[in-house]
Amino acid sequence: MNAPDPNTPVGRCVVVTGASSGIGKASAEAFARMGWHVIGTGRDAERSASAETDLRALSPPGGRVDFLRGDFAEMANVRRIAAEIAALTDRVHVLVNNAGGVRDGLYTSSEGLEWTFAANHLAPFLLTRELMPLLEQASETSAPGTVRVIAVSSLAHKQCSAMRWNDLMMREDFAAGSAYCQAKLANLLFTRELNRKVEGRGIVAQGMHPGKVRSNFSSHGEPSLKAYMATQNLIMPEQPARTIVWLATAPEPGMHGGRYFYDLAEAQAAPQALDDEAASRLWRESERMLESVNA
Ligand SMILES: NC(=O)c1ccc[n+]([C@@H]2O[C@H](COP(=O)([O-])OP(=O)(O)OC[C@H]3O[C@@H](n4cnc5c(N)ncnc54)[C@H](OP(=O)(O)O)[C@@H]3O)[C@@H](O)[C@H]2O)c1
Repeated sequence: MNAPDPNTPVGRCVVVTGASSGIGKASAEAFARMGWHVIGTGRDAERSASAETDLRALSPPGGRVDFLRGDFAEMANVRRIAAEIAALTDRVHVLVNNAGGVRDGLYTSSEGLEWTFAANHLAPFLLTRELMPLLEQASETSAPGTVRVIAVSSLAHKQCSAMRWNDLMMREDFAAGSAYCQAKLANLLFTRELNRKVEGRGIVAQGMHPGKVRSNFSSHGEPSLKAYMATQNLIMPEQPARTIVWLATAPEPGMHGGRYFYDLAEAQAAPQALDDEAASRLWRESERMLESVNA
């Protein structure tokens, strides 16, 4: 029997978080056009409804679109969405952990978690864990390396020199920008450890920086971030979406995981993102934090 072609969309299922806007929406649109079964997630009711309509309009015969809603700062919602995904499909070939962003201050979820760390790191950590049986199921019937987990991180990870192990949610000295940079470093450490754990099962985890993108990103941030982004030469979300689709389908990113990409090419992550001890410690700390909220 020939190995399945990863570019053959029929029966391929992708979960894209944060598909109601920006990079996630542009990525989900690209997968929908290619005829994949696209499961998008969003938080804002209006943006989610509009994205769902747009995605359905792009999906050709044989394709399929489902759209789920929930705030990923709440781990109970992440668990619910994982269960809803499992009710829609028995296998996930690609998981794009994209939802997230920066806030304009310190916000605490109803479960007592700081928003930035919860939505950007703990949510994808938990969602990936909950969807692992579906990724494994896909892997059993796919060519090795064609089942992939992609983390939308950021160049901002370089501005965080190390995880604040004694206060990961920065309660003692919160600054929105630092919390965001740490969460994006966490995305890459998670990717590294995840890849180490799953590569033997034919699954590959990769991280990426999308570039400075015109989206709703800065609308949730501090005035200084909005002012900074307004001065930048921003790219359209379709550009990182191309890299995300490439990471999901091209042979090269399927060969060896735990890497970091930008604009269709491998890029150099900061040394602190390549620290295997920190990656393994973050995994343990994340499990512990999730246990503390019964997730
Ligand atoms: N834009 C940039 O320049 C840039 C640069 C580097 C990295 N990034 C990263 O790229 C990713 C996508 O951002 P974007 O630029 O496309 O911004 P965006 O337009 O604001 O899109 C963010 C997406 O994530 C969802 N989301 C945010 N917080 C959520 C939460 N608590 N629960 C559930 N969903 C949530 C949003 O849902 P709703 O719209 O429904 O609220 C939206 O679908 C983020 O991880 C961001 O950190 C962006």
